Amino acid sequence: MLAVLSVFLLYIFSPVCCVFQKLYCTISDSCDCDFKPNIRDLEWDLYKNVFGQHLVQDVVSEEVAKFLQNKSPEKPLVLSFHGSSGTGKTLVSSMLGNHLYGSAMSSPFVHQFVPTLHFPSPKRVNRYRKELQSWVQGNLTECARSVFIFDEMEKMPPGIIDVLEPFLGSSHVVFRTNYRKAIYIFISTTGEGVINKVALENRQAGRERDEIKLADLEDAIAQAVYNDSTSGFFESSIIKQKLITHFVPFLPLTRSHVERCARSQLCQRGSCGRSDVVEAVGRNVLYSPVQERYFSTTGCKAVSAKINFFL
Ligand SMILES: *[C@@H]1O[C@H](CO)[C@@H](O)[C@H](O)[C@H]1NC(C)=O
Ligand SMILES: *[C@@H]1O[C@H](CO)[C@@H](O)[C@H](O)[C@H]1NC(C)=O
Repeated sequence: MLAVLSVFLLYIFSPVCCVFQKLYCTISDSCDCDFKPNIRDLEWDLYKNVFGQHLVQDVVSEEVAKFLQNKSPEKPLVLSFHGSSGTGKTLVSSMLGNHLYGSAMSSPFVHQFVPTLHFPSPKRVNRYRKELQSWVQGNLTECARSVFIFDEMEKMPPGIIDVLEPFLGSSHVVFRTNYRKAIYIFISTTGEGVINKVALENRQAGRERDEIKLADLEDAIAQAVYNDSTSGFFESSIIKQKLITHFVPFLPLTRSHVERCARSQLCQRGSCGRSDVVEAVGRNVLYSPVQERYFSTTGCKAVSAKINFFL
């Protein structure tokens, strides 16, 4: 009732809108009120706390900024994150949630789907399709600026995700809401083979890591994801229709990146000076190829457990 009244007041006193907007927002759980995108903080977080991922930093900050500055985007922002475990995919997806909504990842407008939880059985694909469609449609009706994060796409039974096709394109007109303002993030390890191969060849050729370009990888990742019969995107029309804005490659991390992860976590615990622990963690991670030891096989994943061990 109060909410209705304040919307009404907001409407008739538009010159003093901001006072009422504030009043309205203190008593409502509207998504426009919770939507507080802070691009500069997002960029800062990406550049300061994500190690060794120049492509990710550039693509994510650029695309998100461009998308949010556009008052009426032609299609939703759809990013698909790929790479080995421990390279920062989940970290970056939470940074997005954290810097877009006032209540961060716990915002009711950031939706996370985990296949092993939401879509465990390949026998129930038809049911999951119906559920997913009605969730996304319901969520978008409540909040056009919804963020949908699909974790572990490599574990989603094929065939489900295509139900989202109409939501991701630009031609289809649905419901009362502007579904084109939504952001979709897909996360998977599928494609790590092609990414790690390019990184290895680059390294063996003696080139700098940041000479790797997005264009060297995007098509290959799309192909690998489309071809992988165990991935949620297997023969997906979403890939075929090119509805993914960008495939974002997370490169394998080197020892110096792992050590930066360790140092940053130590600093958060107030033990910034423990270079001995940083060194010990770096030494105790597995690297591949076995001979050259270029890249950590677990990225920064096991770092916090190793810190506990050596601290
Ligand atoms: C929004 O999505 C969640 C799943 O993340 C679902 O449980 C909920 O019912 C959806 N809301 C609406 C209004 O459909
Ligand atoms: C994907 O499959 C197509 C057709 O079978 C093939 O031409 C292509 O090389 C495959 N790509 C990858 C990366 O496996």
